[in-house]
Amino acid sequence: MSNTFKDNPILGPLNSWFFYTISGYMNVLWGKSKKELFQNHPDTVVEIGSGAGANMRYLKRGTKLIAIEPNIHMHNNLRKTAKKYGINLDIKSITGEAIDLPDNSVDFVMSTLVLCTVENPLECLNQIRRILKTSGQFVFIEHVRARENSLLGFIQNLIHKPWHWFFEGCHTNRDTRSLLESIEFSSLDIECYNSYSPFIPIIPQIRGKAIK
Ligand SMILES: C[S@@+](CC[C@H](N)C(=O)[O-])C[C@H]1O[C@@H](n2cnc3c(N)ncnc32)[C@H](O)[C@@H]1O
Repeated sequence: MSNTFKDNPILGPLNSWFFYTISGYMNVLWGKSKKELFQNHPDTVVEIGSGAGANMRYLKRGTKLIAIEPNIHMHNNLRKTAKKYGINLDIKSITGEAIDLPDNSVDFVMSTLVLCTVENPLECLNQIRRILKTSGQFVFIEHVRARENSLLGFIQNLIHKPWHWFFEGCHTNRDTRSLLESIEFSSLDIECYNSYSPFIPIIPQIRGKAIK
């Protein structure tokens, strides 16, 4: 299990500011999906890669959020957002590949725009499955690799290197759908769609729910 996250003292704070500042626009892009995916969440929720806390506005006030966020530069904005939305925040400065929660201990795990970035997404998914109780849910929104030989695929490959550098490890062209399908969940609902925005490399997306 890898628990190494490369701290970047320049890009870390810059990305924290970026994700904090853009959270209103992210609400425009994903608010409806998130409301649906997160509805009826339990009192305690685990989130992988919470960033600056974009998903807290969809949680009930008083929810306990265990935020697995290895980038320490995100933590101040996470706390600020938690205060704003009345969330009881527990930050764990560890990676999604090395979660320190017990097996079968959690009802609900969520993650948005994270499996593109974690160094070992398969291990992260195995960890999510491990900590979920039987019938526990994992809900997600991710951007994914475009179709072979498509214009979007060409753009994703072209921009991959600078994007990967600026967004501290994000892969524009990761086949996250296949990774999810390779994990033994008892059910997996995935919807693929195009979310049009100025962020062209992340237009093809998936959203859905996996049940252990
Ligand atoms: C694109 S941001 C998304 C943040 C937030 N989920 C959102 O939707 O705004 C990706 C996040 O994943 C975090 N991250 C990167 N590697 C990770 C890992 N190995 N385990 C958990 N989180 C990770 C980053 O620090 C960052 O906060």
